[in-house]
Parts: sequence; C-alpha cells; structure tokens
Amino acid sequence: MKECVLVTGGAGFIGSAISKFLVEGRHTVVAIDSFLSQVHPTGTKSEFLHPEVVLLKRDVSERDTWEEFLDQYTPTIVVHLAAETGTAQSLTESVRHSKVNVLGTSEMLDAFARRAIKPERIVLASSRAVYGEGLWLDQAEDKTFLPEPRSHAQLAASKWDPLSPYGGKVEALKHDASTTPPNPTSIYGATKLTQEHILKAWCGAFGVPLSVLRLQNVYGEGQSPHNSYTGIINIFHKLAYAKESIPVYEDGEIIRDFVHIDDVAKAIVAAVNGAADQLGPVDVGTGRPTSILEAARIIAAMHGAPEPAICGKFRDGDVRSASADISALKAIGVEPSVSFEEGSERVGGWLISRGYI
Ligand SMILES: NC(=O)c1ccc[n+]([C@@H]2O[C@H](COP(=O)([O-])OP(=O)(O)OC[C@H]3O[C@@H](n4cnc5c(N)ncnc54)[C@H](O)[C@@H]3O)[C@@H](O)[C@H]2O)c1
Repeated sequence: MKECVLVTGGAGFIGSAISKFLVEGRHTVVAIDSFLSQVHPTGTKSEFLHPEVVLLKRDVSERDTWEEFLDQYTPTIVVHLAAETGTAQSLTESVRHSKVNVLGTSEMLDAFARRAIKPERIVLASSRAVYGEGLWLDQAEDKTFLPEPRSHAQLAASKWDPLSPYGGKVEALKHDASTTPPNPTSIYGATKLTQEHILKAWCGAFGVPLSVLRLQNVYGEGQSPHNSYTGIINIFHKLAYAKESIPVYEDGEIIRDFVHIDDVAKAIVAAVNGAADQLGPVDVGTGRPTSILEAARIIAAMHGAPEPAICGKFRDGDVRSASADISALKAIGVEPSVSFEEGSERVGGWLISRGYI
C-alpha cells in the first residue's frame, strides 16, 4: 500500500494551484475528482495541475470510489476540496450540494473507518459562506447583532443593508472565527458548515488533527473560465474586454474580500504542514474590504471599458458584506501579498493569453 497526500476535488482551481507545492514537498499526490461538467466542460486538465499528480476520475459521494482508492493507497494527509460551490444555485439545487458536500464527506470518513485509517491530518477548505451576513454593529446603540437573511421583499424595495433590531444605522464587522458565529444564508453555506461539524466530530473521536480554513472570495489564474455560477472576477474581465459596461448589482456597495490564489495556496500549504493543527477555523482573506463597484472600476479601467453601471438588480441569497479579520492567518505565518490591482491584472492577462475572453 502506497502512502500519499489525497486531494479531493484536486483537479479544480485550488487543487491544481496547490499541486506543485505538494509534489515539490516530495509527496505522492492523488487527486480524486469527478470533473464536474459545470467546472470542466472540455474535460481537459488545468495547465496548473502538476503532471505527477495521480488522477482518479471518480465521485467522492460514491462508496466504490473509496474502495478503489483505498485498495491502492493509504492517505497520510487529506486536503478536502471536492464540492459543489454555487451559492445562488444551491437555493434551487439543494440535493446536488448536499450530496457532494455532505454525503461525500461522510462516505470518505466511513471508508477510512472501515479500514481503520487515521490520516496524520485533514485540511478542509471551508468558506466564508458559513457566516451568512456575519456580525453587524448598530452604531447608535453600539450593539452587535446577527442579521436575519435579507428577504426578497426587502431587496426588491432596494433596502440593501441588513436591518438592525435596534433600528439604527448599521456597519458590517469583519469575519473572525473566534467571535463571529456561523449563520449561513445559503444552502451551500449550510453544507460547508455541516462539513466542518462532521469532520470535527470524526477527527475529535479518532484523534486526527483537523485544520479548517474559511476562504473568502478566491480568484486568480486557473479559475474555471467556463463556470458561470462562480468567479465574478472572470465575468467582469469578459465584459470589460468586450468593451461593455459592467452591470453592478444592488447599489454597488456589496463588499467582498478578494484573495488571490497564490495567497490561498500559501495558507493551505501551511495547514498541510501542520501550522493550524492546534487552532480553530482560520479565516483566509486579505483583510481588505473591496466594494463590487470598486472591483468593477479597476477591471473596466484595465481594458479601457466604459464606466460600470449600477443596475439595482440583486440575487437572493447573496450577502451584503464579507471580509476577513486575518490575525489568525498571520499567526500561522501567512501574510497575503497580492493586491487586488496586481491580481486582477494577472487574471486579465491570463484570460486573454489563453483565448478565454
Ligand atoms: N474559490 C472560492 O472562492 C472558494 C471560496 C470558499 C471556499 N472554497 C472551497 O474550496 C474548495 C475548492 O474550490 P475551487 O474554487 O477549487 O472550486 P472548483 O470547482 O474549481 O473545484 C472543485 C473540484 O471539485 C470537483 N468535484 C465536484 N463534485 C465532485 C464529486 N462529487 N467528486 C469528486 N470531485 C468533485 C470538481 O470537478 C472540481 O474540480 C471547495 O470546497 C469550495 O467550497 C472556494
């Protein structure tokens, strides 16, 4: 039986980006990936997937996948990335998300238990979606509150900020796993939180160290240019490159923390090496809140496109504000270094050079 680092969903955006670090760290790397057609419509491997990665094109939610894998390999470290990731899509395609994200995690753990396999460590790529709207501050009362999800009726009335139970002006606080209670507003977010709970219970019972990284909005070269359900930065580049004005939702003041794939790869590799073993979930972002309007303007300017247009449209299930407090990330030795301006420039160049836009 050969020892390996297992990366579920390892042929995806993040899995491909970390592959070279894992292979260079002298690991045998096995990726189990079903090549979901929404992400990989051409069925081809990413240019960023290291050629030495052993690919098993199988579905993590099927028991046979695990039997086949464990007949050949013993995973010493597991990086669990396989997931359905469409936040808005998950509201109408809940089963898809539950099957892969929840059942897939359980099938993996049951298979390990059947063979008494206890990896040295499991690293989970969780999501900022577990926070939903996160914690907000009522400025007049100086009190924090956990908002209810913004209803369709509220958004249709262009009331964009979550409503305070105290009635005052509100301000979003940064996500900090040590103080922000999870409160998902999408089914995707609920399944990611469930993954965390399932892994925490299993790892706790069997004495396996668990690292949970809650990723903010990851973007960068190698993100599927085909998946219309994720990857807003790719979509903005596509529009701007075609000299179209980018339509910006709500009032343009939706806030996100766009973190470049290089910085996310550093965080995952640190966790693979044990840096986050003794910690609770670690928030992975840049710590810089960026409005969607600002992001659209930067990308429009890059391509000489017209000014973005605030269109007032909205998507049910979207949260108003998400950005990370990165103290815990810094404590594991990771300092994000790619600015949004630099990262967007690189993505734009990549999309153009590969003929994706
Ligand atoms: N990219 C982001 O902004 C972001 C943010 C927060 C969390 N995450 C998490 O990071 C992880 C990786 O995301 P990504 O950005 O690389 O997405 P991605 O879609 O590029 O990669 C996910 C991979 O999982 C595979 N997959 C899907 N269903 C599968 C199944 N049933 N069996 C085996 N493989 C399957 C897909 O084919 C794909 O290659 C996910 O767990 C996601 O929830 C990503």
